[in-house]
Amino acid sequence: MEVIILKTKEQIGEAAGKIIAEVVKNDPAAKLGLATGASPVPTYKYLISKYASGAISFKDVSAYNLDEYCNLPRDDENSYYTFMRKNLFDHIDIDPANTHIPDGNAADPDAECARYDALIEKIGGVDVQILGIGTDGHIGFNEPGDSFAPGTFKIKLHESTIESNSVYFKNGDMPRYALTMGIGTIMRAKKIVLIATGKAKAGAVKAMIEGEVSPACPASILQTHPDVTVFLDEAAAELLTGNHAKREV
Ligand code: F6R
Repeated sequence: MEVIILKTKEQIGEAAGKIIAEVVKNDPAAKLGLATGASPVPTYKYLISKYASGAISFKDVSAYNLDEYCNLPRDDENSYYTFMRKNLFDHIDIDPANTHIPDGNAADPDAECARYDALIEKIGGVDVQILGIGTDGHIGFNEPGDSFAPGTFKIKLHESTIESNSVYFKNGDMPRYALTMGIGTIMRAKKIVLIATGKAKAGAVKAMIEGEVSPACPASILQTHPDVTVFLDEAAAELLTGNHAKREV
């Protein structure tokens, strides 16, 4: 795991964005694993700016999102489908047919999870996966538990996740369930970039990097992946005791 501590969210967005842009430059038909939430937004802004300046094209890229809420209309302002359109897809030249998000409203969630896994199986895993981390150590919506889930599945969200994400649901209750790639699906990515900022993430970040590998902190599994870069700001890194790279940009 390479751990890089930067000063601002914008610097992190640029540094993480450069890794994604490089993958796309090397393979114009790259398969990107994408996340929602606040953490990747500056990275998406960087990628949009590179597209706008003509430095990069997503014409042949395909995208695979980590997760989606259940029982939330696809066009709801808080669906991850809407999030991705608003924060990335509507601003670049990606073909909407090449953007994939689990269908949280599928009549048969198990069949939908199997379909999503088959899709990722077919491409042999994504080339690069962007991740955030929950305050409870979740990645995707893999909440702490007794085992690491191998494939995409339906999860009951934990209270801490509901607490963190309910701020976005101004007009009502937020969904209690989601479909998420499993840890096994996430670990198939050839390269992983995880972003965490703010003090609220400091405990989860410490458990992920310096704790034991355990499903009690799902993100800790990333210690066993051969190519992970973690971008942190000072606040998210404040509990780390190891000697990690600090970069002044
Ligand atoms: C989002 C996702 C989640 C978030 C995590 C952090 O697709 O899978 O794991 O990455 O909850 O969310 P933010 O970035 O909003 O703090």
